[in-house]
This record gives sequence, structure tokens and C-alpha cells, in this order.
Amino acid sequence: AVLIVDFGSQLTQLIARRVREAGVYSEIVPYQKAEAALAAMRPKAIILSGGPASTTEEDSPRAPQAVFEAGVPVLGICYGQMCMAEQLGGRVESGHHREFGRALVDVRKPSALLEGIWDADERHTVWMSHGDRIVALPPGFEVAGTSENAPFAIIQNEARKFYGFMFHPEVVHTPDGAKLLANFVHRVAGLAGDWTMAAFRQDMIARIRAQVGTSKVICGLSGGVDSAVAAVLIHEAIGDQLTCIFVDHGLMRLNEAEEVVRLFRGHYNIPLVHVDASETFLGALAGVSDPEQKRKIIGRLFIETFDAEAAKIGGADFLAQGTLYPDVIESVSAVGGPSVTIKSHHNVGGLPERMKMKLVEPLRELFKDEVRALGRELGLPEAFVGRHPFPGPGLAIRCPGGISKDKLDTLRKADAIYLDEIRKAGLYDAIWQAFAVLLPVQTVGVMGDGRTYEHVLALRAVTSVDGMTADFYHFDMTFLARAATRIINEVKGVNRVVYDVTSKPPGTIEWE
Ligand code: XMP
Repeated sequence: AVLIVDFGSQLTQLIARRVREAGVYSEIVPYQKAEAALAAMRPKAIILSGGPASTTEEDSPRAPQAVFEAGVPVLGICYGQMCMAEQLGGRVESGHHREFGRALVDVRKPSALLEGIWDADERHTVWMSHGDRIVALPPGFEVAGTSENAPFAIIQNEARKFYGFMFHPEVVHTPDGAKLLANFVHRVAGLAGDWTMAAFRQDMIARIRAQVGTSKVICGLSGGVDSAVAAVLIHEAIGDQLTCIFVDHGLMRLNEAEEVVRLFRGHYNIPLVHVDASETFLGALAGVSDPEQKRKIIGRLFIETFDAEAAKIGGADFLAQGTLYPDVIESVSAVGGPSVTIKSHHNVGGLPERMKMKLVEPLRELFKDEVRALGRELGLPEAFVGRHPFPGPGLAIRCPGGISKDKLDTLRKADAIYLDEIRKAGLYDAIWQAFAVLLPVQTVGVMGDGRTYEHVLALRAVTSVDGMTADFYHFDMTFLARAATRIINEVKGVNRVVYDVTSKPPGTIEWE
């Protein structure tokens, strides 16, 4: 296994991901705990991450000296490189030659790390982000690559298998970065690339068992991929010590609640409490049209309902959540960062504080596509695993203005037709999210010989990598015409369809 020592970079999880992609198991530990982890894990290689500190500051973090005495290959990235240089007797200075973004590296020397990827005298694009730089190498080290502002862009001590990159190989903006990291774990450390999602599944099962022992665990199901994968994995680990609670707020898409219940009770035989709270939710939302009000009401009711059900089950010490790595980063920056609240996401936070339970979060290190791969590994149906994301407050935020059961039913029918057409056209997987929005606007139309005065329906489809930014999907007009015609013919209450051509920013993906 590979030990990744974390100095607090936002990119550390990406290093782990690249190592996983190379088929090698890794664990991340904060630098303060690295010494204990080193002793317990006996890794075959160590990677030191980047980080926001400067080694020239007093009390800045360091790797335990044992890292360099373990007799295994060490790769330092950015801050990690500077730590390594300084701890082994080199010198780092801060300041005057900051380098951010794309840079060019000139390869000066061949090395085991670069072999088969970069040859001497070649020039390659990398992504840099640093303020400090090394000014004197530690004994035994040589320069293997330079950039305009970093004369020590790649350093190495081939005898001891110590390497350092000033740039970040883990980001996609360093085009050969993934190959370089794979070279480090395969060629330099000699690890076989045979670790797979199947192995992750087995590891995680062991970790969950060790964490919860004989205690009871409660897991909230939302109908989405993340909570479903978490629940199936945990059930595999501890069987019926797990109970799932599905708070049905009546704001799901057509037939979705039934599908969730069928999958979990029928297919997986997982104990599931299905709480039909739709009347409570719709009652509380009646007459409310402000988007933030709606979100707050739904968030509060969700927590109250979940809490009440959990109390009925009783005796559970653990709460399981399908938190992914991007959720972890975002909630960290939401707490500490200067960013303003655009929308209050109801499923981040809230529950754990209120319930004072310990958390089980088996997906905390994974990215969305890895969770999907794990879902497939666990045998979840493809249609479920490949699902578009769906917001916690559900259709309530796709019905601008006041909502009612009738409006929701109309929206559900139209949305199902739209998605059906998208699937038939083979476009579902090319789109990040697609959905219909029922507008609180009525317009005049003519059907047969009669006048109609019905609602406008907006169609939305976007492409995105992470939901943070998005582009509207460029449908073919004939597709839009076909979907619109079907919706108007088949859904009573809609007589006009429009397509949303706003990207994010300046729009958001959802309308509220
Ligand atoms: P926006 O509308 O902010 O959405 O561009 C970005 C992504 O987040 C989803 N979304 C939510 N997900 N709870 C969630 O779990 C929420 O309250 C929520 N609001 C928006 C949205 O569907 C998109 O994928």
C-alpha cells in the first residue's frame, strides 16, 4: 500500500484517486498522524502532499523523520517536495518567484520516475502552484528537471528512491501527471496494479465492521445513488444491524419512491422504514412561494421526521451517510470560506449535529464516478447507478411559486415524458442533469377548436463535471420539437413548452 501524508492541500484526494486509478491501494493520513500510520501500515511507498503553508514559516508542518528512514520510495509534491528538501539538509526560500498555473518543465536527466514518459532534453507542460522554492539541494540529490521559475522543478536521489516535483502531477492540467504517479507506484515502488473496486469493497467492509462492532446503524436513503451505494455496502458489512429510513416528502419524481422501496426491500432485503410524510410536507409548504423559505421548511421537516423515526427504532449509535469527497470539500469551504450562500442545501449538515450520533461515511474518499463504479460492483441496477443527481428538496424547487399536489402531478408527468424522450434518443448519459420546471405562468393556446389557458413548462438540460459550473445542453431542434409535442398532447395543464438556454454561471442549474 501507499501512504499519502496530507499537509492540507485541497488536491490530496486527487493524489489518492490517481493512485487508485493505477490499481494500487492507498491511505491518506494527516501529517500529525503519519508516524503512527507508518508503523501500523508499513507502506511500500510514501507520497507527501502539497499544502497551504510555507516551510519558511515558524512551526510549519513537517513529515516525521521516520518517513525518510523507512527504506521505501518517497515522492514529495510541491509543499511535500520542499519539506523533503529541507528535512534532508537542503534550503528553501519564500517569495519572489511565485508560479501559478501552466508552466513548462525542461527534463535534464533521465530517471526511473520519468522512464517511458519523459526523456532528457524534452519539454513538457505541467501545472504549478507555489510561492516558495528550493535554493539548495540536500546531499545526494540532483536536478532532473527545471522550469523558468523553479530551477528545482524535479529533484531526485535515485539511490534512495527519493523524488520531488515542484508541480502537481495529480491535476488534469499536468497532462502526463497520472502516468508519472503510476510510474512512481509501479516502476519505482514495484507495486502491482491489481487493486480494484472489488478490493475497495472488501477493505471497506472490514473497516465498517471494525468501526461499528455490534452497534446499530441508521442510514437515510434519499433515492439517489450515493445513499443507496452506502446503504448496500454497509448492509453487506453488518447485515441487519443496519436500518434504512426513507423519508418520502412527496416531492420525488414519477414512481421513484416505489422504485426505491422495491429495490431495497425486494431486491436487497434491507430493513427499510418508508415514512410517507407527503401530507406533512405539502401542508407546511402550502402558500409558500419564496425559494429559501421552501428550502428551509423542507430541511427542517426532513430532520424532524428522520429524527422521530430514528427514535422509534432506538439504540442506534451510528448514522450512515453517503457523503462524497466533493461534499467534504464544499462543506469545509462553506464553513470557513468567504463564499456567500446561494442556496441552502438541506442535506449537508443538520442531521449529525442534531442527532449526536457517530458517523459512518464509507464513500468519503470517493468521487462521483468512483461511487458509480462501486455501485456497479455491488450489483446495483445500471439505471439506478447512472442516474442524474436529484436535489434534496425535490420537485418543490422545480415548481417556482406556491406548490400543490396538482401542480406536482402535472410536473411529474411532463418530466417523465421528457426523460423518456432523452433516453430514447440515447442522450441520457451525455447529460449531467435534465428535468422539467412547471412555471407559475399561464398562457393562451388553441387545441382543436378550443381556447386553452394553461401553464408554461420549461425544459432544462445541462452538461457539467461537478455541478459547480454547467453549460446548457445543445439539443437538436427536432428533439425539442418532439418532446414538446408529446408533453402538450399527453399532459393536461400544459399548453406551452420553452427551453432554458442559460449556463451556470450566471444561472444556477435548478431554478430555485
Ligand atoms: P444549483 O442549482 O445550485 O445546483 O446550480 C447544483 C447541483 O446541486 C443540486 N442541488 C441540490 N442537491 N440538495 C441537494 O442534494 C439541495 O438542496 C440542492 N440544491 C441543488 C442540483 O440539482 C445540481 O446538481
